[in-house]
Amino acid sequence: MRLTESSTEAPGKPDAPDPAGTLPALGAREAAGVVADVLLPVLAGGVIVRRPRAMSLVERTGWDRRGVERMRTLRERYGPGPLPLTVRGRSYAMVLDPGDARRVLLETPEPFSPATLEKRASLAQFQPHGVVISGGPERTRRREFAEQVLETHEPLHDLAGRLTDVVREEAAVLLEGAERSGQLLWEEFDAAWWRTVRRIVLGDAARDDATLTAQLGALRSAANWSLAGPRRRQLRSTFLARVRSYVAQPEPGSLAERVAETPAPTGTDRAGQIPHWLFAYDAAGMATMRALALLATHPQSAVRAHEEATAGNPDSPRELPFLRGCALESVRLWPTTPLILRESTAQTGWAGGTLPAGTVFALYTPYLHRAEPAAPYADSFAPEQWTAETGQEARANPALVPFSSGPAGCPGENLVLFTVSTLLAALLERHAYSLASHPQLRASAPVPATLDHFTLCFRVQPRTL
Ligand code: HEM
Repeated sequence: MRLTESSTEAPGKPDAPDPAGTLPALGAREAAGVVADVLLPVLAGGVIVRRPRAMSLVERTGWDRRGVERMRTLRERYGPGPLPLTVRGRSYAMVLDPGDARRVLLETPEPFSPATLEKRASLAQFQPHGVVISGGPERTRRREFAEQVLETHEPLHDLAGRLTDVVREEAAVLLEGAERSGQLLWEEFDAAWWRTVRRIVLGDAARDDATLTAQLGALRSAANWSLAGPRRRQLRSTFLARVRSYVAQPEPGSLAERVAETPAPTGTDRAGQIPHWLFAYDAAGMATMRALALLATHPQSAVRAHEEATAGNPDSPRELPFLRGCALESVRLWPTTPLILRESTAQTGWAGGTLPAGTVFALYTPYLHRAEPAAPYADSFAPEQWTAETGQEARANPALVPFSSGPAGCPGENLVLFTVSTLLAALLERHAYSLASHPQLRASAPVPATLDHFTLCFRVQPRTL
């Protein structure tokens, strides 16, 4: 099947852009290269839920690295873009320049709407009223509500005390098992992670509600297929009713309680925002295990991480800036949202010409985070670039958007960084880790472009005091 069509059939340079005219689309051969090296590995790996076999293939074949190199070559050849291409009749523009990325993210939702057709089709499978796929005044209301409940601008959420208890209790159970077997595998971590997430979001009564997570998993699998996927309406109703039942009997100290207590205008669908939070916490689990893999293989950073983990009172909420930096590096190096998408609602003007309304702007974060010349740490693990001592230089860098930014940037970022850093601290406090799985990471070698989290395995040893 032919995946690409282009306005210019011949390969090679597009016509010189005319500032008053429309930016010309890439030639057919190069557009096919972008599809093959950039879009296909992202789609194959699974956009909404990762597919283990495809992740392994992407890792083994170095597919992500090819995608990054493809974008680097195009940028060298055509300049900063945006670079238009047509894929199966739909107009895309690859955003290569950090300044353009910043503009697209800041000028959201108008004229750059986050609710693209692809996202609406897939996310409606399990969050038909989610803020991501809402528009107009509904988006504004739902966004305000999410920011209020998630306390977007607070490094330590008001519920941080209970969250610390939950994370440390579940970490202790996980570590008991790891001590017995001498190892930590993804499957064990994942089960413990979901118990933690269900307690944080829905309350202790949901701790062992693996059925809810399985229902969400099945809906996410359907969502992976976007427009081509089967509609699972019956399962969606069952799942949403289960989520609502926790909000109807809200447990003190859970996000569900905050949802029940926080007033919002009609049409916000307060409980209907929760499915996104459950779904998105999955990415934070991946980021945690990958951060642990980085720390297990970078001895200097491991020393700092351990110092931070053991400083102060671990039973009370702490900000843990270095461990937050490790979490941010994990997502910078292996973005859990490799494509940040916006669909333009009007014609937009660029240095080289205009692009019509309806263009899908794609920020390919593996390229922006590693290969864009403005991303100075490229393939190395550099958690310190996110901490106060360096003036948080990475925060000011528009090429680095692990949690996106602007009016539709992740409202859960602080909550995620708190959860992940608290868990990392609990894991590191009294235990040492070495990476037993492949690929091996080394402080002296570039960090690989893919790290399949499903196959991660650590040897675990209690530390001698
Ligand atoms: C490692 C974990 C996570 C990462 C890397 C992450 C990153 C992101 C990114 C890149 C976006 C897209 C923003 C855009 O299109 O510009 C996003 C959106 C969002 N995230 Fe997160 N996220 C994570 C976890 C969470 C969690 C746990 C929650 C809630 C508890 C959450 C809530 C949201 C919401 C509600 C949106 C939609 C925002 C909007 O459309 O206005 N995220 N996140």
